[in-house]
Amino acid sequence: MTDSLKCEQIPYCALAAEYGTPLYIYSQQAMTAALNQYQQAFASLHPLICYAVKANGNLSILRHFARLGCGFDIVSGGELERVILAGGDTSKTIFSGVGKSSTEIEFALHNNIRCFNVESLAELARINTIAARLGKIAPISLRINPDVNAHTHPYISTGLKANKFGIAYQDAIAAYQLATTLPHLKVTGIDCHIGSQLTDLSPLIEALERMLLLVDKLAELNIELEHIDLGGGVGIVYQNEDVPDLAAYAAAVARLLSGRNLQLMLEPGRSLIGNAGGLLTTVEYIKQGEEKNFVIVDTAMNDLMRPSLYQAYHNILNVSTATTDEFVADVVGPICETGDFLAKDRTIAAKEGDLLLIQSAGAYASSMASNYNTRCRAAEVLVNGTDHYLIRRRETLSELLANEQSCLKSV
Ligand code: LLP
Repeated sequence: MTDSLKCEQIPYCALAAEYGTPLYIYSQQAMTAALNQYQQAFASLHPLICYAVKANGNLSILRHFARLGCGFDIVSGGELERVILAGGDTSKTIFSGVGKSSTEIEFALHNNIRCFNVESLAELARINTIAARLGKIAPISLRINPDVNAHTHPYISTGLKANKFGIAYQDAIAAYQLATTLPHLKVTGIDCHIGSQLTDLSPLIEALERMLLLVDKLAELNIELEHIDLGGGVGIVYQNEDVPDLAAYAAAVARLLSGRNLQLMLEPGRSLIGNAGGLLTTVEYIKQGEEKNFVIVDTAMNDLMRPSLYQAYHNILNVSTATTDEFVADVVGPICETGDFLAKDRTIAAKEGDLLLIQSAGAYASSMASNYNTRCRAAEVLVNGTDHYLIRRRETLSELLANEQSCLKSV
């Protein structure tokens, strides 16, 4: 985002006039720049960067990352369908997640994905059985839970013993030994993902060190791995966080991987799209409550869950030109819940009709949206220089209601 009233070359007010609000807006240049940072920092390691589709799976966004050479990290058959529709390369696609269904495993095998990141012994057995039925060999990596504290919000911390993710560290060797006995599996790698929005490098490095101890033990047992996957990317700046330096991360990884014949894989999501996107909203009302002021906007928790769910901070910028003096207010949506807020106790200048930009809303915003309160999903626009494209049409009420019936049956 170049100047604060424009996305690249396009004024926000022009986008609002053309497409309405709420509106997710993405800068293509910012996405490219974010990916370049990874590619440059890790260049000497030639990593396979698998964009985490869950962060934002819009087909145009996937297509953009596919064109730039990315693979994909998926967690459902639906996300695999997105990758295929967007022209992504399934041989660069890895399948994560604790609950892959038989249908999803079959779909992934038919599409020759790069590998399954397997999270349990039961899943190993199921993939083997399905691969046998299809006459295929399934490439697999084991997701190991390294039991390190990622120091992030508990809902998005995944590498602790108490979390549902991965195979327990002390069971890892036995799980690999079992995997090598299953005839329709090919063991290719090891992976971990300890959490999201990481602001500290040390847990990532500690997790890598613990993985490499396993790699060495496995080599002694003649189980040679081809790749190591370090999971999601680094945290981003929402407010004033100190985020890890990618060059420092890459240097530490390069030091630990030097002399080893292991292809590096990474699964960043948030850091490739989070700060490339914003959510544009219109102020509906200003309300002075007994104890607080409220800026009531046309965007709500169904469009951006993160403040309600994780008490996440998103910066809010008034992108209208003439406005009022600043005051302190909660920025809230129209949904009938006290948990429906976008910002609390924020110093803001706003009046009815103003346009506000909720920043850093590229990741885990539209992809987590719902229809709560029968609100239609917002439109999405991609900006590239002076061009802008509607990449998701605003949902209509008839689309929202299309699968429902009002069925009158006496009981
Ligand atoms: N790989 C796996 C296996 C993951 O579970 C995730 C994120 C990623 C990669 C991508 O991580 P990233 O690079 O984006 O940190 N809804 C939450 C975030 C949930 C993250 C879930 N897993 C939020 O809005 O903060």
